[in-house]
Amino acid sequence: MAQPIVSFAHVLLLFCVIVQCVDPPPHGELAKRARYIVHKADWCVITTLSSSPALLGQPFPNPTSMSDGPVDKSSGIPYMYQPTVSYIVQDISQNSKVTLTFSEAQFGLKECLLTKDSDPEWPMCARLMLMGDMHLVKDAAGNATAKAALFPRHPSMSSWHFHQHTFLKMDINQILLLDYFGGYSNVSVADYFKVNLD
Ligand SMILES: *[C@@H]1O[C@H](CO)[C@@H](O)[C@H](O)[C@H]1NC(C)=O
Ligand SMILES: *[C@@H]1O[C@H](CO)[C@@H](O)[C@H](O)[C@H]1NC(C)=O
Repeated sequence: MAQPIVSFAHVLLLFCVIVQCVDPPPHGELAKRARYIVHKADWCVITTLSSSPALLGQPFPNPTSMSDGPVDKSSGIPYMYQPTVSYIVQDISQNSKVTLTFSEAQFGLKECLLTKDSDPEWPMCARLMLMGDMHLVKDAAGNATAKAALFPRHPSMSSWHFHQHTFLKMDINQILLLDYFGGYSNVSVADYFKVNLD
């Protein structure tokens, strides 16, 4: 029987050339790797400085859902959807400074697995920190943008009626990425926003 001229592998390769499924981008492409992580993540850890009387000033990390845009449209800007009574909303209303932390272990990449050659702390398993200020979105256009980023990727959010919720938007002012041996690299925020992931 004749072999098909175009194999499944060929089709996959062609598909990858067209949509550039670089997963993840190679180390050294700092800004692109940072944008890849932020876009691929559906959640991260957000650290606020606690405003609760019993924990005043204590770093307060919270695993939290986020999105930087619909699957086919990365903006690089982290958006969140939070109950107005949450610790996060209470804390940022006192001090807007936050750090967002991501690990490629979230994506189950092979460099992050618990094997003899890999680990979540293995330097090829990238980690990212975004530092900046988190703000409540207060205008209708901002609400629409945040909703378009979050709701398609978090299908249950549209039914979260048990509390009043608000959209949050982050202004990033520093980016640290660890994607290789040698510790964290300082990624230019301007370069980060110049990346085109499409
Ligand atoms: C933006 O959304 C919040 C709830 O997420 C709402 O309270 C607020 O009124 C909205 N603002 C505008 C201008 O639509
Ligand atoms: C990263 O580089 C920027 C621009 O040079 C600088 O302002 C900032 O302090 C650096 N951040 C860190 C954590 O080294």
